[in-house]
Amino acid sequence: MATMIRKGCPGPSYQDIVRGDKVRGPDGQVPEILAPIRAAHLTSEDIAFDRYTSDAFFAREMEHVWPKVWQFACREEVLSEAGDFYVYDIGRYSVIVVRTAAGLKAYHNSCLHRGTKLKPSGAAGFSGDMIQCPFHGWTWNLDGTLREVPCSWEFEHLDYEANRLPEVRVEVWNSLVFVNMDLRAMPLVDYLEVLPGHFSRWWGFDEWYTSVHVQKELSCNWKTAQEAFMEAYHTPVVHPEMTQVVGDWNMQHDIFGDHTSRDLCPMAVSSPSMEQGLSQQALLDQRLAGGPQAKDRVVLEEGQSARSVIAARTRENAAAKFGKDFSALSDAELIDSLKYNVFPNLFVYGGPGLPQIQQVRPLGNDPHRCVLDMLMLQPIPPEGPPPQAAITVRITEADSYADVSGIDAFTGMVLDQDTQILRWQHEGMLASRKGAETLSSNQESRIRHFHSTLDRYLESGEARD
Ligand code: FES
Ligand SMILES: [Fe+2]
Repeated sequence: MATMIRKGCPGPSYQDIVRGDKVRGPDGQVPEILAPIRAAHLTSEDIAFDRYTSDAFFAREMEHVWPKVWQFACREEVLSEAGDFYVYDIGRYSVIVVRTAAGLKAYHNSCLHRGTKLKPSGAAGFSGDMIQCPFHGWTWNLDGTLREVPCSWEFEHLDYEANRLPEVRVEVWNSLVFVNMDLRAMPLVDYLEVLPGHFSRWWGFDEWYTSVHVQKELSCNWKTAQEAFMEAYHTPVVHPEMTQVVGDWNMQHDIFGDHTSRDLCPMAVSSPSMEQGLSQQALLDQRLAGGPQAKDRVVLEEGQSARSVIAARTRENAAAKFGKDFSALSDAELIDSLKYNVFPNLFVYGGPGLPQIQQVRPLGNDPHRCVLDMLMLQPIPPEGPPPQAAITVRITEADSYADVSGIDAFTGMVLDQDTQILRWQHEGMLASRKGAETLSSNQESRIRHFHSTLDRYLESGEARD
C-alpha cells in the first residue's frame, strides 16, 4: 500500500500563526515542543466500518486491547484519604482503585467467592479499612489480603493466601490515575511517550481541581465518538459558529509514537474555510466577554493582534486571581487548544488555555453505545482549603450539555453539535453500501494512525494465542 503524503491546508499554517505572535516563547522562538512532527508512515487504504459495528471486532478489542493498555481511571483528588475508592469500568471489566496507607492499589472488581462485584459499577466513595462483598460478606483488607470469611468452619479447604484480591497495575502521572490489567505492561511513563516531557513545561494538574465532570451516553461505537475529537475537518459544517474564531482546517496534527498524537488548534484566528476572515478587532470582540457594545471594550492599537491581547489578559488574570505566574509561556500556549490523545481512549489538553480531560469508553458490552467523560479543571485558589472535586453528572443522549452546571452556553452548544452527529454517523455506517471510510491525508491522519496501533495490539495478542 502506498505511503500517504500529508498535505496541509493552503494559507497560513499553525506555525505561521504562532511565529506571528507577540510573545513567541523562550528567546523569542516558538517553544521546541510545539514543532511539527511529520515522520509517521501512513498508508491510504479505506477503513472498514465493521471495525465500528461488528460484535466480532468488539470482542477482539475486549480480549486483546483493553486488558493490555494503560487507561485513565480517575483524578488522584478523588482518592485523597486511605479507604477512598473509585470503580473504573471498561466493557465487561471492572477495576477498584483504592488508597491504602501504603499508596494506591487496584483490584479486579469481582469476589473470589462467587463472583459478585465488590463495588457497584461507577461507584466512588469511602470503604473504611476493608473491602467487603455485598453478597455473603467475604472481606479483604485494603492491601488485598483476605481478612474474613463468614462460617469459616465450612471453608477449611480455602487457601487464604491464594485468595488475595488479584491486582491490577496502577500508576499516577500528573495527578491522573491510570490502571493496566496486564501485569507485564511497560511502565506508564514509557507508554505516555512525549507527554511527561511536554507537560513538564506547562503545569502540574495537581494545582487544579475538577470543576465539572459530565458523562454523556451516546449511540455510537466508542471509536466513532473519539474520532470526532481527532479532527476539525467537520467544524465548518457541524459548528459554523466556530469558524469565525477558530483555525480548524489549518490545525497542526502530530503523531509521536504508537500511543500518542496531538492537534494544536489556533484560537482567535478565523477558519481558512471563511472567504473573508474577521478583523483583529472583531476577533477580539468575539473572544472577550461583552462584545463590541461592552463598556470596558478593549480597542486594539495599530499592530496589536487579538491573540496577543487575549494572552496578555490571561497572564494578568492568572496572576491576580490565582497567584500563577504564566510569564514564561508563549501566547500560543496560553490560548490555543493543545490536545493530546493517548491510545486508546484519552484526551489531555496541555497549557492552561483549555484545561480539560476527555475519555471515551464502550458502554457495557455494546459496540453501538459508548460514554464520553468530560472533566473541566480550574486552578485551586491560593487561599483556603482546595475546592471539592465536582460530583459526576450523568446525562443521556437527549440531554444538552448546556444544562450542566459549569458549562457555558457556547461550549454546551458545540458539544451538543458534536454528539448529535455521532448517532447519524453510526447509523450511516450500518446502512452503508460502501462499507468503509476514506480518510483525508492530514486532518484525519491521526484516526488512521490510531487504527494502525489498534491493529498492532490485536495482531500481537492473536499471535500469542
Ligand atoms: S459472592 Fe462474594 S461473598 Fe459470596
Ligand atoms: Fe466538533
